[in-house]
Amino acid sequence: MERIAVYPGSFDPVTNGHLDVIQRAACIFDKLIVAVLENPDKTPMFTQDERVSMLKKVTGGISNVEVEHFSGLLIHYMNTKNAKVIIKGLRAVSDFEYEFQMAMLNHKLNPEIETLFMMTNNKYSYLSSSAVKQIAVYGGCIKELVPDSILTQVLRKAGRNGGAR
Ligand code: PNS
Repeated sequence: MERIAVYPGSFDPVTNGHLDVIQRAACIFDKLIVAVLENPDKTPMFTQDERVSMLKKVTGGISNVEVEHFSGLLIHYMNTKNAKVIIKGLRAVSDFEYEFQMAMLNHKLNPEIETLFMMTNNKYSYLSSSAVKQIAVYGGCIKELVPDSILTQVLRKAGRNGGAR
């Protein structure tokens, strides 16, 4: 049976930290679906289509990764994909409480679903999409924070006219 995992998130935008988790999880499962979902607690900077297209661009070289978007509950999406494992990246202890609650709730909603946590690579432990957006908007350098192939798009969206910084 094909082992399918889903890596859900807002990906607003995808960062090098996300990409690191995607690359590592893709080595463990037969298929990894990166699912762009809405987080009701956040107002995204990028549209759903933009987030999907950036993810497709940066994962294009990984043959067993698919990217999709879904509006609704993660566990409903998992059912449509016949996937039983949720992948989550943990950067620091501060992520744990929220992620623990999500994992418990999703497991309660569907006891067949397991959440697998992967520790983020140490060099990305400080990195978040929110930080990338703030740095981009206020004129800082995001070159080593997001994949090169989406750098210009992120800077443009932040009103930086695509300057390669
Ligand atoms: O990258 P994020 O913003 O931390 O991702 C959070 C996300 C999108 C995975 C989470 O908000 C989510 O699963 N949204 C879909 C709706 C849902 O299933 N909520 C969980 C209810 S227990």
